[in-house]
Amino acid sequence: MNKKLESIKEKALQEINSSKDENSLNENYRKNFKELSSVFSQMGDLSSEEKKAIGVKANEIKQLVTRAFEEKKETFVKEKKDNSSFFDITIPGKKTKIGHLHPITQAINEAENIFRGMGFSLVEGPELEDEWHNFDALNFPADHPAREMQDTFFVKSKNKKLLMRTHTSPVQIRYMKTHKPPYRIIVPGRVFRNEATDASHEVNFYQIEGLMIDKEISVANFKAVIEEFCRAFFGQDVKIRLRPSFFPFTEPSFEVDMSCSECKGKGCSLCSQTGWLEILGAGMVHPNVLENSGVDSKKWQGFAFGFGWDRWIMLKYKINDVRLFYNGDLRFLNQF
Ligand code: PHE
Repeated sequence: MNKKLESIKEKALQEINSSKDENSLNENYRKNFKELSSVFSQMGDLSSEEKKAIGVKANEIKQLVTRAFEEKKETFVKEKKDNSSFFDITIPGKKTKIGHLHPITQAINEAENIFRGMGFSLVEGPELEDEWHNFDALNFPADHPAREMQDTFFVKSKNKKLLMRTHTSPVQIRYMKTHKPPYRIIVPGRVFRNEATDASHEVNFYQIEGLMIDKEISVANFKAVIEEFCRAFFGQDVKIRLRPSFFPFTEPSFEVDMSCSECKGKGCSLCSQTGWLEILGAGMVHPNVLENSGVDSKKWQGFAFGFGWDRWIMLKYKINDVRLFYNGDLRFLNQF
């Protein structure tokens, strides 16, 4: 019996230690353990003393074999871990997706650079405005139909009449009230109008306001600044023309057209065969606006302009629907 136990032990340890993988290890352990257990059932003829001695020995061997099994198993587990942590430095890395600036913001930055080169600095103002800054101070008389040119979102409030600004022009007032002339600023920002949306109308859109006030600023200066800007932005020799128009806060007022960037003035579907694209409203700042802002209109004069910024970018990139800017569709946005 003793001998048999010894030989089972030798065989079990040898087989366990030489197992090639986890499966054969499990199998070898199971097989030898079974053999070892069968020794107990063969102890019937032995004296109780012998039974005891053999039982103790068999248990010792069981423990020994089990330990050997566990140790061997451990080596397989470790090997697997080592293999799985293998790092192939030749595999190209995964690119982390980071967002980028919205096309409108990118274009504002581009405009800022161009205007900065002409001595303008960038100023911002609140989107929630009061009626005085948005209309009264800009020389819109009370009850004048001009107020209805811009469908306004009024906001319920206790004191002042508040509204979502319909244009960036109120920032002219805010800036002039808090700074001494001369001025050279541009004001990009979001504006709001109660419009039915379609491919060329949105309830919120962007404008870039400009204001230049000094002692002898004229329409000629305005034309030069705008021409310079259009050329820098469109990168070609575009032409500018002014047409008479009306805004309560400028006198005289004009609409500015740029020669069509698509057909270079020959006439195409983009410019409705006219050769010209309407790009902004502008004019010489009305003396009342200067006075409302605390600026002496006898000493200071200058021009203001307002770009419909979305439209401007649509022209540059040939985008046919303004709503694309605001619906967050990455197929669109990722093209910029
Ligand atoms: N604020 C005007 C608009 O929204 C544009 C404008 C700005 C016109 C400055 C003249 C001078 O239509």
